[in-house]
Amino acid sequence: MLTSLSVRPGFPDFLNLPWAHSLDTWQASQAPLEDLAIGLCRHVVRFVRCEGQLFALKQMPGSLALKEYHALRRLEELNLPAVQAVAHAELKNADSEASLLITRYLDDAVPYRLLFIRPDFAHYREHLLDAMASLLVQLHLSGMFWGDCSLSNTLFRRDAGRLQAYLVDAETTEHHPSFSDPLRQHELEIMNENITGALADLAAAGDLPADFPIFETGESIQQRYQQLWEEVTRAESIAPQQAYRIQDRIQKLNRLGFSVDEVLLQSAEEPNRLHFRLLIADRYFHSQRLLDLTGLTAEEHQAQRIISEIQALHLSQTDGQTLSETAQDWLQNVWLPLQPALTSMLTGVDLQVAEAYCLLQDHKWYLSEKAGADIGSSQALSDFQQTVWPDYLAGRCSSAEN
Ligand SMILES: Nc1ncnc2c1ncn2[C@@H]1O[C@H](COP(=O)(O)OP(=O)(O)OP(=O)(O)O)[C@@H](O)[C@H]1O
Ligand SMILES: [Mg+2]
Repeated sequence: MLTSLSVRPGFPDFLNLPWAHSLDTWQASQAPLEDLAIGLCRHVVRFVRCEGQLFALKQMPGSLALKEYHALRRLEELNLPAVQAVAHAELKNADSEASLLITRYLDDAVPYRLLFIRPDFAHYREHLLDAMASLLVQLHLSGMFWGDCSLSNTLFRRDAGRLQAYLVDAETTEHHPSFSDPLRQHELEIMNENITGALADLAAAGDLPADFPIFETGESIQQRYQQLWEEVTRAESIAPQQAYRIQDRIQKLNRLGFSVDEVLLQSAEEPNRLHFRLLIADRYFHSQRLLDLTGLTAEEHQAQRIISEIQALHLSQTDGQTLSETAQDWLQNVWLPLQPALTSMLTGVDLQVAEAYCLLQDHKWYLSEKAGADIGSSQALSDFQQTVWPDYLAGRCSSAEN
């Protein structure tokens, strides 16, 4: 029985769900259930569609859902990539108390299993390692210890041919405003152990090639993490007249997607030297810029690609337009005219429109290279629909079978 339900504004009230029953017993005749791919989990997790939106419901013992709800809200406040907490409920039955967490379903995510077992997804594996390393760096920069970093607790979205990792299970997260090196090390050890375990399971099920580097994968994420951490957090020493090096460093981090919040300058012990360090706000530099310029939302690499395109267009303008004006022209003349075709192609397909746009732009570039001249958008679109898209859909059908 439902004893309390708290829902954030802007979401359905969920009151028509069959609260008198335990989540694992809900039937399709009682609730708008959706059968979707799911990672390994201890708790009962089910998906429902309410007022046209998809949600994940997770039933947990005692009041654990409230704890995870607050943890996810904290991640959201810190601008970190995680599923969005929507509601939590307390349930009481004759002999037990339980709670339920509702999160917004993260659509267009690729199950990690497919990234390892599908041969045509092999190129994504490298990106998966980078995406996990980057997610951990982002969490740690914000003082967030995850405590259970694993493949099943992460969702991966395509991002201009790469991947963006999202944290899905926040049950064990802890906020440590002063995050120590041993704690970071501990996190990496947990990650390594969990990843090795998951890959060993896939290998035992015969889903991985015999020579797959099961034991090196976690280590590889660890190395990428260390490199990125060093790049983002290292302090540098400069002479007072070398302030340009601060700008260089900011631009380098921006290219990696990190937005810089503050530059910390300190006088050094050596005469005439300064130390500087950059404080990071988030890793949405290009996403935020694209949103400001066009109102569009996209993953970080998708946004970076689209902004480069707008910048190239801007450089080719001779009438003194501002970048914002070029962005509006791009929106009206390039993006919006493609929307009807992209929307109809994406009906029932788990791909973000910005990713489909990036795929199309790749194809346009490839055709232009081949022709030695710029190919127009409509020619690229029709070739894309005839050559690239059927293969993509065929791959998707075999992914559904896996
Ligand atoms: N908001 C969401 N969007 C998409 N998928 C989700 C969402 N929430 C949960 N899932 C799916 O459900 C799976 C299990 O969720 P979760 O890891 O939170 O459960 P759990 O029982 O707490 O896991 P654990 O056994 O690690 O404690 C995830 O791997 C993911 O596939
Ligand atoms: Mg989990």
